[in-house]
Amino acid sequence: MKHFHISTDIYFSDGALERLTQIEAKKAFIVTDPFMVSSGAISAITKPLEKGGTPYELFTDVVPDPPLEKVKTGVAEFASAGCDTIIGVGGGSAMDLSKAIRRIAQELDPGVYIPLICIPTTSGTGSEVTSFAVISDTERQLKIPLVSDSMTPDEAILDAVLVRSVPASVTADTGMDVLTHAIEAYVSTDHNDFSGALAEKAVEIVGQFLYRSWSNNEDAHARKKMHIAATLAGIAFNASSLGLNHGMAHAIGAHFHIAHGRANAMLLPLVIAYNSGVSGVTQNTELRDPVVERYCTIANVLGLSSVNQVMTVHSLCNYIRYLNEAMGIPSHLSEILTISREEYESHLDAMADAAIDDSCTATNPRVPLKPEVIDIYRKLW
Ligand SMILES: NC(=O)c1ccc[n+]([C@@H]2O[C@H](COP(=O)([O-])OP(=O)(O)OC[C@H]3O[C@@H](n4cnc5c(N)ncnc54)[C@H](O)[C@@H]3O)[C@@H](O)[C@H]2O)c1
Ligand SMILES: [Fe+2]
Repeated sequence: MKHFHISTDIYFSDGALERLTQIEAKKAFIVTDPFMVSSGAISAITKPLEKGGTPYELFTDVVPDPPLEKVKTGVAEFASAGCDTIIGVGGGSAMDLSKAIRRIAQELDPGVYIPLICIPTTSGTGSEVTSFAVISDTERQLKIPLVSDSMTPDEAILDAVLVRSVPASVTADTGMDVLTHAIEAYVSTDHNDFSGALAEKAVEIVGQFLYRSWSNNEDAHARKKMHIAATLAGIAFNASSLGLNHGMAHAIGAHFHIAHGRANAMLLPLVIAYNSGVSGVTQNTELRDPVVERYCTIANVLGLSSVNQVMTVHSLCNYIRYLNEAMGIPSHLSEILTISREEYESHLDAMADAAIDDSCTATNPRVPLKPEVIDIYRKLW
């Protein structure tokens, strides 16, 4: 028996932030990226709260890939601020932190339910609808995906007006995170027709609107579409989980602090080639592997099809390489890391172990062996 459900209420489209005038909270604890306050963009959140008569406290101690210590600080400040509702506003880093804070605060005070509202300011992680929160253990150089239903936000508010200020490089990275979520959810061993439908739609939107929103962030229509695609892909992978691409990207992020979406984007053609068994020299044009067929469906949704399945998977990998290049995402880590090849090599053993142990890797369509993961990391250099 399988089960599919969405527990998050979603408010979306123009004017969605008006929802904040209606919430029933004594006092809201807003967990947000410091840029929201320095840029003044936080007024898009605080004004409707004030209009609805909801007082608030701001917690801005958010850093990319939030570490465990920030969760502890956030829980302590939440407890002392006398708030009863948490609002996470920002990219995946702020939202994940708000989710972890809610979970721990709830465990410390199980008698009173603490509602959580998430408001994304990037079109990427889908964290606003997922039971995942990725927290960093800086000492052990690990990014740990915490997965629990108690992490899922009660409400998500999708208003693409918040994304207008996102720099082009972040639009590229986060947009490729959406594509990676959708593709990994689509080929996951836990995929089903519900998650598949959402993933296909997310891929279709990325194909039409990611490059458009990267090349012109005044393109409000493209921005709105990408904002929806991020959430669709989030619902898809919340149901079917992810795969090796995310497991490997988490290890890269923990060791070298490369943006999550960028690490995913660079790995994506390599992981598709690995999972499908389609390499540059593959001759067999009669592959009937179900994973190859699913990659071909993704390719078809993107308008890519070729003479046979092998060539169609090649087209998909080439399309991703092309999109990365067009948006300034490098193909190799040697282009962005300032370390030597030897030093990079010294990390690979630990990174491969972490990638294999990562909970996202458990649903990869091919069970990866350590030397194979190391080989993919070498190709990435
Ligand atoms: N919980 C999940 O389901 C899930 C899924 C994928 C990734 N993640 C995690 O989410 C994190 C990445 O999130 P992200 O990709 O959204 O990046 P992020 O939250 O780290 O933000 C990236 C950068 O963009 C800036 N930024 C965000 N919104 C902006 C805006 N509107 N205008 C201008 N600048 C803005 C931030 O200040 C930051 O410098 C990683 O830690 C990753 O592991 C979580
Ligand atoms: Fe991701």
